[in-house]
Amino acid sequence: MTILVTGGAGFIGSNFVRYQLAESEARIINFDLLTYAGNLANLEGCSEDPRYRFVRGDIRDRAALQKLFAEESITAVVHFAAESHVDRSVEGPEIFVTTNVLGTEILLEESRSAGVERFLMVSTDEVYGSLGTEGMFTETSPLAPNSPYAASKASADLLCRAFFKTYDFPVLITRCSNNYGPYQFPEKLIPLMIANAMEGKPLPVYGDGQHVRDWLFVDDHCRALDLVLRKGTPGAVYNIGGCNEMANLELVNLLVNKLEVSRDLITFVKDRPGHDRRYAIDAGKIMTELGWEPSVLFAEGLGRTVDWYLDNRSWWETIRSGEYTRYYEEMYGEGGRHTRRPGDTS
Ligand code: NAD
Ligand code: TYD
Repeated sequence: MTILVTGGAGFIGSNFVRYQLAESEARIINFDLLTYAGNLANLEGCSEDPRYRFVRGDIRDRAALQKLFAEESITAVVHFAAESHVDRSVEGPEIFVTTNVLGTEILLEESRSAGVERFLMVSTDEVYGSLGTEGMFTETSPLAPNSPYAASKASADLLCRAFFKTYDFPVLITRCSNNYGPYQFPEKLIPLMIANAMEGKPLPVYGDGQHVRDWLFVDDHCRALDLVLRKGTPGAVYNIGGCNEMANLELVNLLVNKLEVSRDLITFVKDRPGHDRRYAIDAGKIMTELGWEPSVLFAEGLGRTVDWYLDNRSWWETIRSGEYTRYYEEMYGEGGRHTRRPGDTS
């Protein structure tokens, strides 16, 4: 099997590349534009493996994809490449449409022309929108995305479905809950809180902190993706979740305890517009059909994640000293998106 991994220099993609090199015989072609979120430091050691090749490129660049498909006998595509942060999509939705929607469409066309045998679309549970206190998302729940990020992922997800229905192109779709683990970009909740705590900075909790996410350790997601890629039914959707719901404030409190910093660092800030209240995934289908289940308990996964960020301080310090500084100011600085103003109730 030769797998084209798009976005393999990002958080989940780099964990997936390492997983494949360690656990399979597959050849891996990592195609990544290296945006702010892509980082070759996430793949240290991989380039020594003769089964691995990195190509810098844009999924919106048809000619670059055609050249790659002509050079390599690619049998499978695992499509991670995306703009992935909800808060950035609130500030500037356009790139989410060009990358996530148009980029996916071009990748689908070129993969189909090249005769790719399995195309795995790494979608997200955010396509389903938000839940109240009851119930869970199943694969047949209606798509009701609320952020520009989620809407762009839902569009890409539906284009994949259309390629299966229209052209019989062997697409597989996964919709996973929130991941956490090593190499996650420090704009996302868990690494942001760890890095801020280690630097004695405020821990910005949006709104009342009672928004609920279902957390899954990244290795468990990679194992699920591998199973779907190899054994899933073309055209099918598979939910993937951690069976591990937690309110943000509870999670931040766990981190405060683990890192032994003062609870006074917790700061309630202005909420995210359109903030989904609760995600919960029913992963019964992948458990029954493919025999997958999460293997890393949250306490263990969180401990491993905290240890990784403690041991790899230069990795996130380098990121936080670059372009990210401007982003952080726009989000959390004086007058930023999440700064409460007089009269704000959220
Ligand atoms: P990430 O932001 O860490 O990585 C995205 C990668 O895509 C980066 O390496 C970036 O350089 C690359 N990229 C962006 N635009 C590109 C383009 N035009 N051409 C080629 N490469 C490009 O994201 P992540 O958290 O690793 O998420 C990976 C995928 O998984 C995304 O599709 C996301 O929607 C999905 N997903 C993420 C989660 C999560 O909790 N992080 C949960 C479910 C699904
Ligand atoms: P995030 O990691 O951005 O993932 P997503 O929005 O895709 O679920 O955020 C996870 C949750 O944490 C979400 O409810 C928003 C909240 N959050 C904060 O409270 N403070 C923060 O600084 C960030 C980045 C997120």
